[in-house]
Amino acid sequence: MSSKTARAEFHDQTPKAESFRDCVIEGLSGREKSIPCRFLYDERGSELFEAICELPEYYPTRTEMGILEANAGEIGTLMGPHCQLVEFGSGSSRKVRILLNAFDRPSSYVAIEISREALKEASDAVAGLFPDISVVAVCADYMAPMDLSKIPEAEGRRLGFFPGSTIGNLEPAEAINFLAGCRRVVGSKGAMLVGVDLKKDPQVLHDAYNDAQGVTAEFSLNLLARINRELKGDFDIARFAHDASYSEERGRIEIFIRSEADQIVTVDGESFRFKAGERIHTEDSCKYTVTEFQQLAARAGFTAMRCWTDPAKLFSVHLLRPT
Ligand code: AVJ
Repeated sequence: MSSKTARAEFHDQTPKAESFRDCVIEGLSGREKSIPCRFLYDERGSELFEAICELPEYYPTRTEMGILEANAGEIGTLMGPHCQLVEFGSGSSRKVRILLNAFDRPSSYVAIEISREALKEASDAVAGLFPDISVVAVCADYMAPMDLSKIPEAEGRRLGFFPGSTIGNLEPAEAINFLAGCRRVVGSKGAMLVGVDLKKDPQVLHDAYNDAQGVTAEFSLNLLARINRELKGDFDIARFAHDASYSEERGRIEIFIRSEADQIVTVDGESFRFKAGERIHTEDSCKYTVTEFQQLAARAGFTAMRCWTDPAKLFSVHLLRPT
């Protein structure tokens, strides 16, 4: 036993800080107001998202973990020994542990995550739990084209991991682009493992984004609180409401923050008028059938190898190989 605690190797590829201010001002200036969903995840937002994952109505996290637990052995067999896992947006790195435990002598784990403190904590924790695996932490925006040249070549196959149905935040065209980028990262011998939320009873979807305790509402409205904290905003949060509904036509949950009154809000010296009922679009969460997702993956250069679901068909995990 080594006396030193295993540590992750840290690579800083943090992009030039994009301005939260500029994105908010621009997003509130248009005829249809919107703010990109990545800004939901400040420290408080990340904490609230962790709480969402524990809600009785929010089935995706626990369902996906169950699918991974039940099938990690088979996934490991398909990938072979000495596999390298590359996770896009690794967050707390909890799900990947299920794979690392089940795989045959995995060689390395590359965690790509924009949130620097979460990345340090999570990658060091994995390094401590799996001393035989080399852990590489890359602080980077996984949506931007990234430089993986500093990351060691693996002895075995490279498996890209994108769990949580985070892919649902992207419109189908963006999801195809993202997967095509993953295709370049994993190479012709690699594979992708992607978690995708499934189409289902609209009531179940509605409840998952409108929980009884109001945690999801607080998560949404934290965006306004963050603007108040960081951008000298004066949103009266009590006069705004979380508004999430499922569009069957579009196959997605659409999330907005709705103004409950005619009001004027100031952000960093700029004023914005809201009519009663006017909304800020904050997030979409696209849902797919297994076939729809396989067709989308095909357009990004991937062929479906396997797809696993839970017995209630709430969630799916897809193993894709380059076509
Ligand atoms: C992190 C994008 C997968 O869409 O289910 C949960 C985000 N927003 N509740 C999702 C979210 C409100 C979540 N993703």
